[in-house]
Amino acid sequence: MAKKKLKIGILFGGKSAEHEVSIVSAKNIIKALDKQKYQVFPTKIDKNGKFNLNSIKKMDVIFPVLHGPYGEDGSMQGLLKILNLPFVGPSVLGSAVGMDKDVMKRLFKEAGIPIGKFITLYNGEKISFEKIKKILGLPVFIKPANMGSSVGISKVKNESEWKKALKDAFLYDSKIVVEENTNGQEIECSVLGNEKPMASVLGEIVPKNDFYSYKAKYIDEDGASLLIPAKVSKVITKKVQNLAIKVFQTLNCEGMGRVDFFVKKNGEVIVNEINTIPGFTSISMYPKLWEASGIPTSKLLDRLIDLAIERYNREKKLKTVVK
Ligand SMILES: Nc1ncnc2c1ncn2[C@@H]1O[C@H](COP(=O)(O)OP(=O)(O)O)[C@@H](O)[C@H]1O
Ligand SMILES: [Mg+2]
Repeated sequence: MAKKKLKIGILFGGKSAEHEVSIVSAKNIIKALDKQKYQVFPTKIDKNGKFNLNSIKKMDVIFPVLHGPYGEDGSMQGLLKILNLPFVGPSVLGSAVGMDKDVMKRLFKEAGIPIGKFITLYNGEKISFEKIKKILGLPVFIKPANMGSSVGISKVKNESEWKKALKDAFLYDSKIVVEENTNGQEIECSVLGNEKPMASVLGEIVPKNDFYSYKAKYIDEDGASLLIPAKVSKVITKKVQNLAIKVFQTLNCEGMGRVDFFVKKNGEVIVNEINTIPGFTSISMYPKLWEASGIPTSKLLDRLIDLAIERYNREKKLKTVVK
């Protein structure tokens, strides 16, 4: 008798500035899922955050294909956990700390993971441009603490750009990070697994303009070129892969994550960030790096679903009463 197909709920869209990106990611995932194994049920979350919760509850596994706040930041993961549903990707804690560029960096520091200099600012907090310049030099990067896809990010070279950039970033979050500029190659590594995560071959992003902006990521086809494998030595490759796993574990991640780095000319490796629900568009690095490592996307999705079920079963065994 044929095995019963697993019902996979795909959550996409969402109340996030990355709504459109999520739609493209979801389409690719739906296309790549093995229909011999799965019955696929897409559920769209609209820009106000509305969706049909009842259709979610009947699923065997949920795949939240949601980028940014309300989807990648632990809030949806919390809801799914309360609903007692297995889901793909990191759980509440890993998602939350992986989304917050300020908390993430502080955990990196504690773990001895190399990062660039940064300053965290809350809305309303006063700091002079002179002081920023003195501590971080110029240019600086200004980013909303919780966001992705380069939304709300500016590279700032002078005081008038600084003022505009602050306004922009505070549109998306009440906390922002200001970072020193790190010159170097932009290198990415995909991570897959629960207790024993593995790291993929490395990819490299070569932005054509100032930096890897929203436009370069999704709008301008010539905005950046992607190199797989990255143009770095074997020694650097190993160093980055080990660090990617350390980042993943430090942030309590499970399932998947794409860790992004800067590699300086002198060989110094700096961690930029993790993405716990990385893009799955046709040009996205997460699936491409696994493909280059020998795992085609449909097999990658099988593994992610297995990992979701494995974690669910493990957590189910934990005692919830004293005995
Ligand atoms: N400190 C930095 N130094 C140099 N370039 C940076 C720095 N921070 C970000 N960038 C550039 O901006 C892009 C987006 O920043 P990132 O932190 O990855 O934000 P997001 O979470 O939106 O992807 C990076 O891919 C890189 O091109
Ligand atoms: Mg990024």
